[in-house]
Parts: sequence; structure tokens; C-alpha cells
Amino acid sequence: MSETKEALNAFAIDIKRGLQSSPKSLPSMYFYDETGDALFQKIMDLDEYYLTRAEFEIFVRQKEEILDAFLGDDQTFRLVELGAGDGTKTKVLLAHFLNKAISFTYSPIDISGNVLDQLKEDLNGELPSLKVEPIVGEYFSALEDLASNDSSKEVVLFLGSNIGNFDRAAGVSFLTHVGENLSSGDLLLIGFDLMKNPQKVLSAYNDKEGVTKAFNLNLLTRINNELGANFNIDNFDHFPTYDPLTGETKSHIVSKKEQTVYIEALDESFSFDAWEAIHTEVSQKYSHKMIQEYAEEAGFEIVRNFIDSNQYFVDSLWRKR
Ligand SMILES: C[S@@+](CC[C@H](N)C(=O)[O-])C[C@H]1O[C@@H](n2cnc3c(N)ncnc32)[C@H](O)[C@@H]1O
Repeated sequence: MSETKEALNAFAIDIKRGLQSSPKSLPSMYFYDETGDALFQKIMDLDEYYLTRAEFEIFVRQKEEILDAFLGDDQTFRLVELGAGDGTKTKVLLAHFLNKAISFTYSPIDISGNVLDQLKEDLNGELPSLKVEPIVGEYFSALEDLASNDSSKEVVLFLGSNIGNFDRAAGVSFLTHVGENLSSGDLLLIGFDLMKNPQKVLSAYNDKEGVTKAFNLNLLTRINNELGANFNIDNFDHFPTYDPLTGETKSHIVSKKEQTVYIEALDESFSFDAWEAIHTEVSQKYSHKMIQEYAEEAGFEIVRNFIDSNQYFVDSLWRKR
């Protein structure tokens, strides 16, 4: 119970900080309540959202090479996944590893207990022989748990271009922190969404059906439900941008009129100007050069890049130096 209360407090504190800052912002990690998890699963099926299909194709077509690279000279490893979500793509690898009679433990980490419960249930049904040890928590606190395990080789998955939710400095610092909790020779497989036709990128965050809009605005519904706020969702809109110079996609919630919203848990009101934007998420797109620089700066060397047939996406395998 106290854990839930602490999480709620952290949520309230982060919302307050974001709405008090200029420009206003809200942390993207709070997208994922039960509704947010379900909306993200719908996003992954959208025609416009090429990322999931590209990474799925990489795993289907290159699973043998991926397993060989994971094993190297070893017989086994511990597989850890940061921000596992529903594990759709990971299951391709898990099933292949079991088929090859590799003995390993899978530890999915996610801030959403709901999505991890679903994943554990799915895996128990689909891959009953798999040893699953889920960890509900924020990346950084879960990383501390990782550090205490030094018995076997660690292979850490960070898929779906989740890394793109950090800006450059925060991304390198995050990956450095991951590395500090690994031993020399441990591996990290990171999904990076590559720079491509800017129109294609933008459409992925602005689908025709409006699912991404609903996903973005659900953050306000979550604040209403969990913090007793009175956001009128119809008074806000979704507006994504893509900058092909920097590779940065940004999602915003825009206030369609001048308005004030009261948040009961904070006993505080927040004012919005007409057309004022709240930044909610960054989704960085990468060049191969940027990926090389990230790896070097974070203390890793690139072992191999696994790329899809359209060259939209790369799963880059890094070794801790
Ligand atoms: C965009 S989804 C991607 C899921 C999966 N990696 C994939 O590629 O399909 C991001 C997932 O990361 C989780 N997540 C986001 N921020 C997190 C954080 N700071 N700590 C732990 N999990 C987080 C979310 O709950 C969500 O399930």
C-alpha cells in the first residue's frame, strides 16, 4: 500500500513540477496506465507506426544471428529487458532461444505493473518452460537490482527505440548508468529508429484514426482520475512535430483556449493561455554516426548492427568495455 502512495506522490510531484515550468511539460513515462497500455498496443498495429513491424522483422529474420551474438563463447546468459511492455517482439527471441534449448532467465522490467502482469500471464501460457522474473519499477531503481547479480553474463534489451524518449545528454547518461551496472563483456541490444523520409516519421505520430492523439491526451485523463483534476479533454489537442535537422520528434498537448484547471491532490490551479503547448514526449531519430558516438561516450563498443530490409530501424548490439 505504501508503495502505491509513494508512487502517487511521485506522480503528483512530477505533474506539479512540469506544469509550473516554462514551457510546460509532462513526463512521458506517465502515459502508461491501463488505458495508456491498451492504446500503445493499438498504436503498434497502426499502418503509420512502422517501428514495431521493422523491429519484429529484424527478430524474425535474424534471430539465429542474434542468439549466436548473445552467446559468444558462453552457454547461457541472463536476459533483462528495460521497459518490456507487452513483449510482442521479444517473444520471437524467447521462443527461438527455448527451441535451441538455451537455459536462461528472462527479467522484464516495466513501470507498469499492469503490462507486466499481462506479459507474465501470456508467457506462462505460450512459453511454459520459460523462467520469468518480472520487476515492476522505474528503469534506474531496477538497474540497482541488476547490479547485485554477477553470476552469469547479462544481456540487456532496450527495444522499440525507447532510448529516443531521452534527449542526447540524458540518453548518453542513461546508457552510461546501464553500463555502470554491468560487467565488462556484458551485452546491451538497443533499438534505434533511424532517420528517414520526414513525412513518414511525422505520420507515425499523427495517425489518421487519432489513436496517438488519444494516447497523448490520456495523460490528462490520468491526472483527472488519479489526482482529482478537472481537465476538459475536449479543450486540448495533440500536435506532433519532426525536425529533420536534429532527428527530434516531439509530441505536444495544446490548450485550445485560455483556461484554468484545478488539481485536487495538489490543491492548486494551473492556467493555460490560448494555444499554449505542453511538451509531453520526445522520440529521437538517429543516424548511424550518432549511434556510434552514443556507444563510445557511454563506454561500449558496437558488436554488430541488425537492420530491417527497409533500413528503417536498427537493433544495435553493444559490448561493455
Ligand atoms: C513505448 S513502450 C515500448 C515497449 C516495448 N519495449 C516495445 O518495444 O514494444 C514503453 C514501455 O516502457 C515502459 N516505461 C516507460 N518509461 C519507463 C521508466 N522510466 N521506467 C520503466 N519503464 C518505463 C512503459 O510502461 C512501456 O511499457
